[in-house]
Amino acid sequence: MGETLRTGGGSDKAKDNRGNREMRISISSERVEELKEWFGDYVHTFQYSDPERQQSIDMKKWHTLRVCAEISSLGTRLGLNEEELRLAEIIAMLHDVGRFEQYARYRTFVDGRSENHAELGVATIMGSGILDLFDDAVRDLIVRSVRYHNRASLPSDESETCLFYSRLVRDADKLDIWKVVTDHYLRKDKDPNKAIELDLPDTPGFSEEVYHDVMNKRIVNMAHIKNLNDFKLLQIGWVFDVNFQPTLDRVRECRYLEMIRETLPPSERINRIFGVIDRSCFR
Ligand SMILES: [Fe+2]
Repeated sequence: MGETLRTGGGSDKAKDNRGNREMRISISSERVEELKEWFGDYVHTFQYSDPERQQSIDMKKWHTLRVCAEISSLGTRLGLNEEELRLAEIIAMLHDVGRFEQYARYRTFVDGRSENHAELGVATIMGSGILDLFDDAVRDLIVRSVRYHNRASLPSDESETCLFYSRLVRDADKLDIWKVVTDHYLRKDKDPNKAIELDLPDTPGFSEEVYHDVMNKRIVNMAHIKNLNDFKLLQIGWVFDVNFQPTLDRVRECRYLEMIRETLPPSERINRIFGVIDRSCFR
C-alpha cells in the first residue's frame, strides 16, 4: 500500500492509508441507493426560474456527483474494499450538501460572505434524519468528514480512520474543482460565471503575499486574494495539500496545473512556482 504522501505543505500524520485504520465498516448497497435517492430529491427542492440561479444549483449537484466518481476511483486505486468504497461515496455525496441551503439563504458560495457550508451541511444531515439507520460510529465518521472537508488543516486529535476519509474527500473534491475551473478558464469568453470566479477582477499581475504562500508551499490565505490571477495561484497551490499518490497521478494525467498556468501571464515568478511544484510533487 504505502500510497499516502506528504507533499510539503500538509502534515506528516499519515503513515499509511490502510494499516492504521482500525474501524470495521459495514454498509449495505441499499443504504447507498437510499441516500442517492434522498440527495436527488433534496436537490430538486431548490428550483429557480432565474437561469443564473438554477445554474448555480445545478453546478453543485453535478460537482457532487463527479466527486462521488472521483472518490470511488481514488478509493479503488488505494485498494479499499467494497464497504469502505460505499462509505467513501456517501461522504462524497454529502460533503457539499450545505451548499444548497447556503445559496438559498445568501445567494453566494463564498463562506466568508455567508456561513461555513460544511457546518450548514452537518446541520442539514442531522436535521434530515438520513443517517439514522447507520451505526453510531459510522454516522459520526460521515459527519466529521463532512465537517472537516473544507478546513484549512485537519485536527491533530482525530482517529486515523476519520483522517483517512477526510483526506480522501478533500482530494476528490480538489480534483473536481480543478476540472471545473480549467473547463471554465478554457471557454471563459463564451460563458462568464460569477459562482466560479467569485466576482474577482481580471486585472494584471498577482499579489506578493499569494506568491510567497505558494513558494513556501503554504495554503494561500483567502484574505490575500485580490484578483483572478491570485485565485488561480491559490488553485495551483492546492497541489501541496494533496494527500494520496493516485490524486497526483490524476492531476498529472489531466494536466490541470498546466492548463491553469496557460491562462496566467508568463513570468519568471510563475516559472519559479512551477519549479517548486515539480521538485516537491512530481519528481
Ligand atoms: Fe466540493
